[in-house]
Amino acid sequence: MSLRLRGRKNIRESLEQQPELVVLDPQTLKGRWHEFFGNDHPIHIECGMGKGQFISRMSVNNPEINYIGMDIYDELIRRGSEKARALWKSEKNADNVPNLALVRGNVELLDEMFEPGELERIYLNFSDPWPKAKHARRRLTHPRFLEKYKHVLSEIGEIHFKTDSLTLFEFSLNSFSNTELQMRNISLDLHRTEIREDLVLTEYETKFVGQGMPIYRLEAVIGKEVQAAHRRKVAEDLEHEMRRVHVKDEEE
Ligand SMILES: C[S@@+](CC[C@H](N)C(=O)[O-])C[C@H]1O[C@@H](n2cnc3c(N)ncnc32)[C@H](O)[C@@H]1O
Repeated sequence: MSLRLRGRKNIRESLEQQPELVVLDPQTLKGRWHEFFGNDHPIHIECGMGKGQFISRMSVNNPEINYIGMDIYDELIRRGSEKARALWKSEKNADNVPNLALVRGNVELLDEMFEPGELERIYLNFSDPWPKAKHARRRLTHPRFLEKYKHVLSEIGEIHFKTDSLTLFEFSLNSFSNTELQMRNISLDLHRTEIREDLVLTEYETKFVGQGMPIYRLEAVIGKEVQAAHRRKVAEDLEHEMRRVHVKDEEE
């Protein structure tokens, strides 16, 4: 057996030994994720979690949310499990990670893993940009993926997307807009004035911010009621602002 294969076997064995944290066959939990977590808390997923810095930190910071970190590579799931366990140990002195599932899976199959409405939020953090036009279909913000997200998200579902790639962001703005998703909180330089610690940085983000690169971000909402509430809030804010300017003009 080659070293490479033996390495892979060891990684797989380590994943199989952590069924309370690592899910290798997510399709079997379709419609039953709340049984896995043992509660009815909302479920937020990061599609393409990498080494798991973001999702581990989110799970520690927000115990009332159930988190799923998904990636296609066994090795990244293994590293994510180590990171999450270490963080829960150091910050909560806990031997287990109660509100996190690390899923080895492909976003292509999202609708085979979740029932309609089973998720409340999807994070797309620094998704691979696939810069060549012939690979556009692989971008995780391609309309064909957005349709999958709409399918599995609940009526109050949201997508939060961050990237360092201007071309991916530009493509994604069109994609979201063509899929009739209501975008909000769009930023072309997220950490312009100071690091937005409230938003939890990912591994890639930490690296790019360190290099002084701008981070592009947007949120998109799914349900018609949430979209209408957002538009009402924008209209109210605008009216408030116009009244304020009017009063100021009269005073001068
Ligand atoms: C550029 S990395 C970003 C990692 C992390 N989100 C961050 O911000 O540091 C993109 C990750 O997405 C994963 N990925 C790409 N396509 C995927 C797919 N179809 N399904 C699941 N994961 C995917 C890759 O394996 C990789 O770990």
